[in-house]
Amino acid sequence: MIIQPRVRGFICLTSHPEGTAEHVKQQINYVKSKGKVENGPKKVLVIGASTGFGLASRITAAFGSDAATIGIFFEKPAAPGKPGTAGWYNTAAFEHEALAAGLYAKSINGDAFSDDVKKQAIELIKQDLGQVDLVVYSLASPRRTHPKTGVAYASVLKPIGQAFTNKTVDFHAGIVSDISIQPIENQEEINNTVAVMGGEDWKFWIEELKAAGVLAEGVKTVAYSYIGPELTYPIYRNGTIGKAKDDLEGTVPVINDLLKDIHGVSYVSVNKALVTQSSSAIPVVPLYISLLYKVMKEKGIHEGTIEQMQRLFAERLYTGNKVALDEKGRIRVDDLEMREDVQAEVAELWKKATTENLEEISDIAGYRDEFFHLFGFNFDTIDYEADTNEVVPIPSIQ
Ligand code: NAD
Ligand code: NA
Repeated sequence: MIIQPRVRGFICLTSHPEGTAEHVKQQINYVKSKGKVENGPKKVLVIGASTGFGLASRITAAFGSDAATIGIFFEKPAAPGKPGTAGWYNTAAFEHEALAAGLYAKSINGDAFSDDVKKQAIELIKQDLGQVDLVVYSLASPRRTHPKTGVAYASVLKPIGQAFTNKTVDFHAGIVSDISIQPIENQEEINNTVAVMGGEDWKFWIEELKAAGVLAEGVKTVAYSYIGPELTYPIYRNGTIGKAKDDLEGTVPVINDLLKDIHGVSYVSVNKALVTQSSSAIPVVPLYISLLYKVMKEKGIHEGTIEQMQRLFAERLYTGNKVALDEKGRIRVDDLEMREDVQAEVAELWKKATTENLEEISDIAGYRDEFFHLFGFNFDTIDYEADTNEVVPIPSIQ
C-alpha cells in the first residue's frame, strides 16, 4: 500500500516501514561511527525498547558493545491494509540488522506492567541468556493496570496548586498561543500519575528478575528522568509528572538495597528534552524544544536520542571508572541542555516567540522533521508515493 502521514493532534496515525528502517539504520551507523564502548554491557534487557530512549539504548548496547538484547514493548503489528505502529517497524528493522551482524535479539510484545510479561521475560532470559548484566527501564505510558490489585490508573499532566498559563505551539500549524492548564483537583490525580510513571513497576521488575536468579553479579539497571528549565517547572518537574519522577528517583536506593548481595547498582539518568511520541503530548514543552534545538544547533552541541544514549553508555555507565553523579545521586546527560549560556539564550527567545517570528527564531522546522522521522516520514531516500509492503514481521515474534 501507499503509506503517507495521517496526523491527528500531536500524534501520527500511520508509520512507514522503509522510513522507520532508515531511521533505525541511521542510529546504528551513528553508534558504529563512535567505535566500541569498552567494557560495555553484554546481555541486556530493555523495557520500553521500541521507540525513543529505549530503542536508542538497545541500539547502543547491540552495536556499541555487541550485546545480546531482549526488548519489551507494547506495539501494534502490521496487518494487510493497516500499517503497524512505528515501534513495531523499528523493532523489525532492528532485529534484521542485529541478526545480520550476528547478534542475538529477541522481543516480547505485551504489557510490561503485567506479571505475565515479566514471567515471559524471565523464561526467555533463562532459556537463551542465563542472566542479564544490564536492565534498561524506559517505559512511557499514559496508563497502568496494577498487577497485584487490578486497579487501572491513568496519569495526568497537570500543575499542582495553581493554574499555569504560558506559551505553547501547535507545531504542525506553526501557531504560538497562550494556554492555561488547570491544576489538579485532588491528591488522587498525583497518586494516579505516580502509580503509572513512578518507580513501583521498575522495582517489581528488579524484584522478580532477582528472585528468578537471572541478574548477573554486578548487574546495572538504569531508568530515565527529566528536569528541564524553570519555565516548564509548573507543567513538568513541579507538576504531576514531576512527582512521578521524584518517586522514580526515590526508588534508586530501594533497588540498590535489593541488589546489594550481588553487587548490583541502579541509576536514574536525567536526559535532555527530545522530540519523542511522549514529549510531543506535553503542552508548552514542544515550543521549548524548538527554541532549545535552535540554540544548541547554533552552538554545535545539538544531540538527538541516539547521541544521548551513546554518551550515556560511553561516558557515564561504562567508563571503567566510578559513575559521576550529581548531588542527588543522579547521572546527568542533560548537562549541555542545562548549560547557563544555553538556558539564557532560550529564555530570551522564549519572551520574543510569536507565530510571526517562529520560523525565524526557532527550529520549529527541525522539530517537525524529527516528529515525522519518528514515524518514518520525511526521509529523502524514501519514495512516499511508491507502493510498500505494510506487513513486516518481527523475526523473533512472527
Ligand atoms: P517513547 O514513547 O518513545 O517510548 C516508550 C516505550 O515504552 C515504547 O517502547 C513503548 O512501546 C513502551 N511502552 C509503553 N507502554 C508500555 C506497556 N504497557 N508495556 C510495554 N511497553 C510499553 O518515550 P521516551 O520519550 O523514550 O521516554 C522513555 C523515558 O525517558 C520516560 O521515562 C521519559 O519520561 C524519559 N525521558 C524523556 C525525555 C523526552 O524529552 N522525550 C527526556 C528525558 C527523559
Ligand atoms: Na523508550
